[in-house]
Amino acid sequence: SLAHSAKSMEELAEKLRSYEGCSLKKTAINMVFGDGNAEAHIMFVGEAPGADEDRLGRPFVGVSGQLLDRMIAAIGLDRDSAYISNILPWRPPGNRNPTPAEVSLCLPFIERQIELVAPHILVLVGGVAAKTLLGRKEGIMKLRGQWFDYASHGLSCPMKARAIFHPAYLLRSQAQKQKAWQDLLEIKTQMNSAK
Ligand code: URA
Repeated sequence: SLAHSAKSMEELAEKLRSYEGCSLKKTAINMVFGDGNAEAHIMFVGEAPGADEDRLGRPFVGVSGQLLDRMIAAIGLDRDSAYISNILPWRPPGNRNPTPAEVSLCLPFIERQIELVAPHILVLVGGVAAKTLLGRKEGIMKLRGQWFDYASHGLSCPMKARAIFHPAYLLRSQAQKQKAWQDLLEIKTQMNSAK
């Protein structure tokens, strides 16, 4: 109810800042709320901040973030024309995987953030974001390569959602780059048709 009562991005950030329900806040240096244009038609949601993001308080600014920026640039966008956030606003210590409890405690905040941006297209960056927001059990290998409808109570209509490989995974698995490229082209086509 804390997250859902937020009427603006500023209010949501303030409510998250005052939220004491998730212990990740205690070990993190900074809250990482979001970056880019909150009125963009496309929104990218990753998993959780890493060390660089925690230090700077901005999402996707480390090595994976630089690759994400290049992926976004490949479809003609940048941080002035896209919005970027994460499932978790605080870094899990040592970059461990977030627990299901941590994810469910923070979920209302990212759901509300998506409602406030209300993009035409939601891009789920990596398996954790895809499974969490699509409410699916399959991994990224199954979830990528297709369009989903993403809906929530505060949205007037569902939006198109698509899962892509996480840039951290692409940095380790060069062989998947072609599939990643196909996914980006699909997103670009959908973006142009939604205009
Ligand atoms: N990986 C993510 O999922 N999010 C970030 O912000 C940085 C790395």
